[in-house]
Amino acid sequence: MVSRHRIVAVGFVLVLAAAVSGLRSWPALRAQDAAAPTTGADALKKAVETGNALFRSGTFGTNGRSCTKCHENPRKPAMNLGKRVGNYPKWDRREGKVITLGQKLNQMLSRMLKGRAEPLGSEKLVALEAYLMSLTRQAD
Ligand code: HEC
Repeated sequence: MVSRHRIVAVGFVLVLAAAVSGLRSWPALRAQDAAAPTTGADALKKAVETGNALFRSGTFGTNGRSCTKCHENPRKPAMNLGKRVGNYPKWDRREGKVITLGQKLNQMLSRMLKGRAEPLGSEKLVALEAYLMSLTRQAD
């Protein structure tokens, strides 16, 4: 026969386990987990690095050019984008409508690099945007 003490002990352990798991799923604690500063900052840093690499890549498009052929070119300082990308969304003459920065990057990708436009919000397009916006934060 199971002793009364053992039943009490098992019951106590079960209550403790329920309390701990309840605490873990408590919204405030979960929010804290998700917003752990290093994770978010690291993810953004990685996106900026990926975007920086894409901006310099001669294989992002298909014609062997990189964005840096025209932008960040020491001979064309007016073409640096740090002071320009902060103006988006903006009216675009070619499109005849207001477009977002992502749409402008796609336009450049297909027109200047003969690449295939990325789906808006794709990892590559977000990374490129993250890199370009990081320039505006350094610019002032
Ligand atoms: C062959 C030269 C050339 C290449 C390569 C090129 N661009 Fe451009 N880019 C231009 C010119 C010229 C303009 C200004 C005219 C226009 O908006 O179409 C421009 C404009 C832009 C603008 C808008 C600036 C503003 O003031 O609104 C962004 C953003 C941009 N380019 C990003 C890129 C990115 C990202 C790449 C690579 C995927 C790239 N460009 C490749 C020539 C180039």
